[in-house]
Amino acid sequence: MTKLTENQVTDEHLFLNRREFIQKLTALGLIASPLAGYAGQNFTSHPNPNYQPKLSLTSEEDVTHYNNFYEMGTSKSDPSRFADSLKTAGWQVEVTGLCNKPTTFSMDELAKQFPNQERIYRFRCVEGWSMVVPWSGFPLASLLKSVEPTSKAKFVKFTSIDDPENLKGQRFRTIDWPYVEGLRLDEAMNPLTLMATGLYGKALPNQNGAPIRLVVPWKYGFKSAKSIVKIELVEEQPISSWMHIAPQEYAFYSNVNPNVPHRRWSQAKERPLGSFFKKKTLMFNGYGKEVAYLYKGMDLKKYY
Ligand code: MTE
Repeated sequence: MTKLTENQVTDEHLFLNRREFIQKLTALGLIASPLAGYAGQNFTSHPNPNYQPKLSLTSEEDVTHYNNFYEMGTSKSDPSRFADSLKTAGWQVEVTGLCNKPTTFSMDELAKQFPNQERIYRFRCVEGWSMVVPWSGFPLASLLKSVEPTSKAKFVKFTSIDDPENLKGQRFRTIDWPYVEGLRLDEAMNPLTLMATGLYGKALPNQNGAPIRLVVPWKYGFKSAKSIVKIELVEEQPISSWMHIAPQEYAFYSNVNPNVPHRRWSQAKERPLGSFFKKKTLMFNGYGKEVAYLYKGMDLKKYY
């Protein structure tokens, strides 16, 4: 793993200037320099003082070969092995529901309308492993604003691809397909919530949820739905796939919370991929400063 200094991570995990990001990754030998060709757009830099010392970028190999993507099978190596079974040509994302301007976007239209930014985020899976990932993408808030949600819209429902002919995992009822996730509208509008289309300065690999996925870094990884085809503004709280499968174990919020154990294991520690040692899990995965206000006055043991 490549060690970054506190300052690099502090700067990089939010709203980073693209040129600096590319230069840093290039300097670290993480990406080839030709990518610097697309550097040049500036983004506002808001350093986050709520950093974690000695944060290390997880290796690209681990991020792309230790995955959960049940559409391709339940083992961690299935998604990279069967990545070709995900067909992304002609992909469209329908943004609809309680809004004035429902729109179906092609990937080209999304790229034109919502230019990518680079973000380094901590990512914590509910199973206990964690990563630090350089994503690229755009804030979900920009996309939602463009369709003008009505005042009735309270939640956002995300639906992943449904293609049992090609995706062998969908031939088994491990999940009531397609994979569904949800956020409260204010969570969806938080500037940290990202629609990711890239990793390590490259297009998103199929096993990581190509061509477009959600990334919600203060929640357990399963909230970050992959290969999204539909985003719907709704009035009622959606029932996510994991709530449907095991309502006694998975609730709607699923914020990273070391003080609330999973029914079958503790959430106090995590093992960064590529590291032998465990470390303490942070409340809201370390993003409390940015998101704690969303849950003010809520009993997080009840709304876990
Ligand atoms: N999205 C879909 N459509 N299908 C899935 O099986 N798995 C979730 C989430 N998004 C999943 C999904 C889980 S459990 C995790 S931990 C993350 O994706 C894993 O993301 P990664 O493989 O890019 O690390």
